Order: sequence, then structure tokens, then C-alpha cells
Amino acid sequence: MPDDIPTLSPDANCNALKTAEPYPPTWWYYDIDHYTRELDAIWLRSWLYVCRSAELAEPRMYQTIRIGDQNIVILRGYDGELRAFHNACRHRGSLLCTEQKGKLVSKLLVCPYHQWSYAADDGHLVKISSFAEPQGFNKEDYSLFPVAVGEWRGCVFINLDADAEWTLEAAFVRTPATIANYPLETMVVGHTWCREMDCNWKTFWENFSECLHCPNVHPELGELVPQFKRRVVHFKDQPGWEDHQGSGDPLYTGGLADGVETWSMDGSAQGHVIEGRSSEDIERGYSYATTLPSAFIGAYPDHVRIVRLMPMGPEKTQLVAEWLFEPETLNAPDYDPANVIDFGILVMEQDMAVCDLNQAGLHAKPMDAGVLMPEEYYIKAIHDWIRTRLDP
Ligand code: FES
Ligand code: FE
Repeated sequence: MPDDIPTLSPDANCNALKTAEPYPPTWWYYDIDHYTRELDAIWLRSWLYVCRSAELAEPRMYQTIRIGDQNIVILRGYDGELRAFHNACRHRGSLLCTEQKGKLVSKLLVCPYHQWSYAADDGHLVKISSFAEPQGFNKEDYSLFPVAVGEWRGCVFINLDADAEWTLEAAFVRTPATIANYPLETMVVGHTWCREMDCNWKTFWENFSECLHCPNVHPELGELVPQFKRRVVHFKDQPGWEDHQGSGDPLYTGGLADGVETWSMDGSAQGHVIEGRSSEDIERGYSYATTLPSAFIGAYPDHVRIVRLMPMGPEKTQLVAEWLFEPETLNAPDYDPANVIDFGILVMEQDMAVCDLNQAGLHAKPMDAGVLMPEEYYIKAIHDWIRTRLDP
């Protein structure tokens, strides 16, 4: 349920599609050639959220990540700088780091195959294992292939486009002002949850972008955010919304239900709300920032949840969720983080189940494409974002 993707017609009185918009063709969701086209045009040219900077706090700490068939290692150099490289040895291409995360035992990144060694700062080739260097071979020509890195508010991003320059505008669909008052820099990961979905990466984003499914798929969420029971993401999504302004009824004005403090199993924040939020933040009750195609950041009164995706195949997508808390909240003896973690998992599992259903049905032979309904204007925005990148 994003609140940061530009609406289709900002001047319109109501956020809604007027005409029946076609979906992309169904084969975009399972055809291997099209999947590769999207990887090349989108995933390998966009800033992708990888992990929190704190996960790579010390020199020689690393994380590996796979985007399609590209393996990347992100490494805090022994000089303290954060860098990323293709996780591929320049000798004959072996993976260098085989674990998802770890810490190098020395200042060298050593290939597990024939033990070529690279400097764990700038990735230059330090040592080969042969008895001599053959003629025509220069070690300087065999540094690791670099990958661009960006850091923002304690979040690490990479971009496989060698010419990419980090800017906030390049990384976020809209400048993430809605989460400006949440202390992202100092929040710590209290829990991580990883699953594989049997769906295309676009299927996930489409589900994320509408609430037409909310009443039947997320009954518990509707009790916390009443307007979701009306199948809308924003209070302006239905004609006649003006009639309810000033009513103070969250069913029509958005925000959390009366007495609800956060997105948790019992609706309680257990006395640990984040200070410093504006009155608008409190009124909204939750805020989102979306960095397509890889992640969204959901900010709630007592925690933040970052959900990132990585495509594993045309019909396989990895999802990793991280729950972030203020250290004093996470360490408070009277705060049980399971209250928000379990709720997040409940909602994500509900979404994953319908994403899998959606994906399986897309194979129907007579079905060329789906169609968008008025409430699904964010999906059109995402489709337009994708189409622009595929056909610039
Ligand atoms: Fe790495 Fe041979 S492939 S040293
Ligand atoms: Fe949902």
C-alpha cells in the first residue's frame, strides 16, 4: 500500500483510472527471454537495496547477493570504505565468496579454486598461484570488476551499471520525505525473514500497489486500518471522498482505527512509539518509501520494516524482510518485538499466497492480458515505469 508513487493525474479530484487499462501481455510474467530483457533493462541498471550499513560495520565484513544470474559481493575494505564487486575471479571465473555473509580472515580476498588473491580494499590482484607470470600477462589488468555503491541513512544500495552515480532521485520513485522523521540511521535490525515466492517480481509489486484484495485477503489488517476494508489505498481513491472530510472516521479519512497504536498483533505499541514524528506522520499512522524495483520501506509508529526483492527466475522471487527498531525499544524488557514481527509475517504470507495464485493463473492459454480496475491506478504507474525502461 504505497503512499509515495505519483498518481496518474495529480489534478484529478479522485485517484482512479477512468478507462479499462490493459495489463502487459501475460508472457511478460513467465517468458525467459522477456525476463532476461527486464533484468538487463531494469535490474542491472537500477539502484538496488542490499542491506543495512551496520551489517557491514567492520573492515573485511562482506555480504553476497544474487540478482538474476549476477553474483555480487559487498565488502567493507580494510581501509573502512564500502565497495562492491562482481563475485567472480578474474582467472577462470569462480565465485570468490561462497557464504551469504562473513568476515575475511585477512586483507586478501582469496579465490577458493586456485587461490588468486585480491586486495580487500580496491580489489586489485595481489598474487597468483602459478610458479611464474606468463608473457603478456599483467596483474594490473585483472582487478575485480567493480560495482557502484550508494549509502543513504544506513541503507546500502548497489548498481550494476558501471556509469551509475548515486542520487536519491535515481533511487526512489519519489523523494522519501514521508519517512524523514523516522530515525532510520540509528535503528537496528531486530529480525530478518527470508522466503521464496513462486511468482514474477512484477506480480509482487502489483499486489503491493492496490488494496482491492484487502478485505478478503487481510481481514486482520482491516481492523487496524479501516479504510482498507473499503478496498482503497488512499482516502481520495473513491468519488465523493470530500463528503467525509472532517468526519474523523478513519474508515473514510485513512489512518489507524481508534485505539490502535501500530501495525501489530494486538494493535499496541507497548508504550514505545517513535518520538519526533510530525502531526501528519501521526495522523497518517504509517508511511512508505518505494525504491523500484528492489524494495519498499514501511514506517510504523514503533518500527520500520524494509522488504526487498530479488528476481531468482521468471517465476521465482526472493523476499527478505527486515524489522528495524530504535535500540532502546528493542532492548526494553517491556517490549516484545514479536507483536509487530508476527503481524508483518501474517500480512506478507497472505500476500505471498495470492501472488502465487496470480502467477499460476497467468498461464491460461486463452488469456492474453489482464485488465486494470479504477482502484488499480498505482499498478498502471508501475507498468508505465517498467515500459519506459524497456523501451526508452
Ligand atoms: Fe579463481 Fe582460478 S578461478 S584462481
Ligand atoms: Fe496485501
